[in-house]
Amino acid sequence: MKGIICAGGKGTRLYPLTRATNKHLLPIYNKPMIYYPIQTLVNTGIKDILIVVSEPHSGDFINVLRNGEEFGLKKVEYAFQDESISGISGAISCGGSFADNDNIVVILGDNTTDADIKKDVENFKKGAKVFLKQVDNPNRFGVPVFDENKNILTIEEKPKNPKSNYGVTGLYIYDNTVFERIKKLKPSARGELEVTDLNNSYIEDNLLEWSELPGFWNDAGTFESLFLSNQYWANKER
Ligand code: G1P
Repeated sequence: MKGIICAGGKGTRLYPLTRATNKHLLPIYNKPMIYYPIQTLVNTGIKDILIVVSEPHSGDFINVLRNGEEFGLKKVEYAFQDESISGISGAISCGGSFADNDNIVVILGDNTTDADIKKDVENFKKGAKVFLKQVDNPNRFGVPVFDENKNILTIEEKPKNPKSNYGVTGLYIYDNTVFERIKKLKPSARGELEVTDLNNSYIEDNLLEWSELPGFWNDAGTFESLFLSNQYWANKER
């Protein structure tokens, strides 16, 4: 199993902070944001990580993370996500040769969690696995639509009228068919290759599993959620 961290994007919702550096290098208490998803991957036993970056400030990542020795990683690679392949699925597609024939764990660089997904990674065989969390504001996320047995029928991206109060978190496990599946995706209305469309392709083949993520989880894409993440991790670390 290998790890991919999606750390591209301009972070416009956090201007002017993200004029200075990339969103994923902004502080969450005493560490750059991306340290948290790296640690989540390291805790599962993953030793090889690809960081997918984009303009501007892409060079800042290598200054901060260097060769990943601080985390005990065997290998950190960097990939550059061109604007022509935007979106989370676009970012994942940059990892084809890095993954080689391995399965991958993907985590979004602004997602922090204290959940341990080691067992999920160890038990993963094929298909895909997503992690859900009950949220107050599902319309900010991918939202699952369930049948009466709590199987996911489909996932809707940022729906105006969410059909459940669960959000799809930015942690995903994929088998190696992920790269072929992304090739078949079409850009969404906002011009991105969506991770929700990718997950729906697994659902169509009856190959998507889910579980509820225990503990704390938050993304940090807005001032409010960045502040919440800071509050949580400061209290925990102190
Ligand atoms: C992305 C995904 C969404 C997911 C969320 C988790 O949204 O598109 O499905 O629920 O990450 O953080 P974004 O944060 O890019 O708006």
